[in-house]
Amino acid sequence: MAGPDDDRLALDLLIRGFQVSRTIRLVADLGIADRIAPEATSSVAELAAASGVLAEPLLRAMRALAAFGIFRVDADGMAAHTPRSLLLRSDAPNSLHPSARFWTAAGSWRAWEALDVAMHGRNPHEAAWGTSRFDYLRTNPDEARIFDAFMANFPDDRHGAIAAAYDFTNVRLIADIGGGNGQTLRRILALHPAAQGIVFDRADVVAAIPPEALADGRITPRGGSFFDAVPAGADLYLLVRVLHDWPDEDAARILRSCRSAMGADARLLVVEGLIEPDPSRGRPTEYLTDMQMMAMFGTARERTEAEFGRLLAGAGFALTRTVATASPVTILEAVPRLLPDGV
Ligand SMILES: C[S@@+](CC[C@H](N)C(=O)[O-])C[C@H]1O[C@@H](n2cnc3c(N)ncnc32)[C@H](O)[C@@H]1O
Repeated sequence: MAGPDDDRLALDLLIRGFQVSRTIRLVADLGIADRIAPEATSSVAELAAASGVLAEPLLRAMRALAAFGIFRVDADGMAAHTPRSLLLRSDAPNSLHPSARFWTAAGSWRAWEALDVAMHGRNPHEAAWGTSRFDYLRTNPDEARIFDAFMANFPDDRHGAIAAAYDFTNVRLIADIGGGNGQTLRRILALHPAAQGIVFDRADVVAAIPPEALADGRITPRGGSFFDAVPAGADLYLLVRVLHDWPDEDAARILRSCRSAMGADARLLVVEGLIEPDPSRGRPTEYLTDMQMMAMFGTARERTEAEFGRLLAGAGFALTRTVATASPVTILEAVPRLLPDGV
């Protein structure tokens, strides 16, 4: 049974968690995991020279990570991979490399510093940067592309899980609203050769999608804001991890934009991690994502199924069913319902 000393040690490591994640980013920014071949051993001095940094501080950083099973570093300064460090290689399936670079990147890091303001109803990101999260990303393209890659390779592996869990047979055109760099569509279209997709996102996000990522022309990128309008004419609309970035009023506006673009027979899939009100039953990562929403967007948050149901109903949708996936996200399927004014 865990004793008080174990609790003290475990809590101490949690308190110092930022030291670990910041060191992981340091090493990920230098691309160290890619510089060590999977089965090889490399000297830290050579890795440092190849990265243009000093050997001694890099050795200290890698030693600290090795203490957590991320890389193996021996007393002679030779480094090799472990199962954890292999996940930091950019060629690993569902790589954690973008994740390692994202969480403590400047935009997020400084917003977390201002977290206290959220306790008074303010937005930490705006307090730290004087601008909204997505405007910050628009004007910081390097960080924005890390964010897009992080979304496409999110540790929850939601894109493949969505493609596998929902029956997309007979779906002709899918509009992925706030679809980032199109990863969900790529995974769905790979399983459904007759389907086509539209990835709709902020202009700078879709402009950065390379042509080779557009599934041989089956994905059409469209830039714009879902607060203005979204493309009409698709038979299935996706909102994957989009609504959690917004407080209720804004989430309702996004849903109403979709509702206006949708024909009577179209379906909407809202895909989100549903937060479990009893934290002893939920996944720790969902509560951390909820805190990330607080740090980036103030009152935006993770929601329960009932909260999504109310949001959907208020925007003119009927929730038809929920579909669990192999990932922590759940698919909430909704259809337009006739509004009292006949809309
Ligand atoms: C949390 S990410 C989710 C991305 C993608 N759906 C996924 O699951 O990987 C939210 C997305 O909403 C997009 N977004 C933010 N504001 C937007 C707007 N006004 N109009 C369209 N897209 C927007 C962001 O650029 C980002 O790609």
